[in-house]
Amino acid sequence: MNSNIPNHVAIIMDGNGRWASMRDLERSEGHKKGTENLPKIVESFKESGVRYLTLYAFSTENWTRPQREVSALMNLLLESIGSQLEHLHKNNIKIIHLGDKVGLSVKIQKAIAKAEKITKNNTDLTLSIAFNYGGRNELIGVIKQIIKENIEPDNINEQVISERLYSKSIPDPDLVIRTAGEIRTSNFLIWQSAYSEYYFTDVLWPDFNKEHIAEALEEYSKRRRKYGSS
Ligand code: IPE
Ligand code: IPE
Ligand code: MG
Repeated sequence: MNSNIPNHVAIIMDGNGRWASMRDLERSEGHKKGTENLPKIVESFKESGVRYLTLYAFSTENWTRPQREVSALMNLLLESIGSQLEHLHKNNIKIIHLGDKVGLSVKIQKAIAKAEKITKNNTDLTLSIAFNYGGRNELIGVIKQIIKENIEPDNINEQVISERLYSKSIPDPDLVIRTAGEIRTSNFLIWQSAYSEYYFTDVLWPDFNKEHIAEALEEYSKRRRKYGSS
């Protein structure tokens, strides 16, 4: 294993639909397969020494998909919290939610709150689930909060903004991985990833495995981060 391990890896889990279409299956089957993949992925990052893992599971724009698919995605979140929470907790994994709780059903809000509460003192890895998350929506929320708090314009700085983001309790991502070949960020962590390294792979999310993780981490270890310096 390489020595330069990212502290925080964030993943745009893309390609579930294409994985299903290629097999003549419903798109929801791809989402199911992609979700089943999660325990192994989390374990693998944990073993590699990554301390923060963030997964983009549902964007604020994903509501525009057919109702049937949206429902399937909502149900999958509930089911996976139900079936994976105990295992994650046993593995000392802390779960947090990034995103707009308004707009999610009460059932989902409760399930998320339960997962956050049960795992809040866990310390091995923080798993952030970006669900009903949008970077622009997040920044609008910050602006509203700043106005409500009557913060003077001269007192607004990067820290004031960072402390009001959904991600306030976690560091910025060092590495952002996107699967399934699209080279774009799709409204993911737009403030936080200002100096993140990006890694794009053609592998579809349901096929993404330990070996692909090793490849991404290997590539990251070769990057020279400069933050604007010479
Ligand atoms: C990612 O897979 C899951 C979500 C965006 C919810 P997609 O459903 O976007 O899969 P493709 O891009 O259509 O293959
Ligand atoms: C980004 O994937 C959102 C998630 C992975 C949850 P999309 O499939 O929604 O992004 P676009 O539409 O290709 O940009
Ligand atoms: Mg997609």
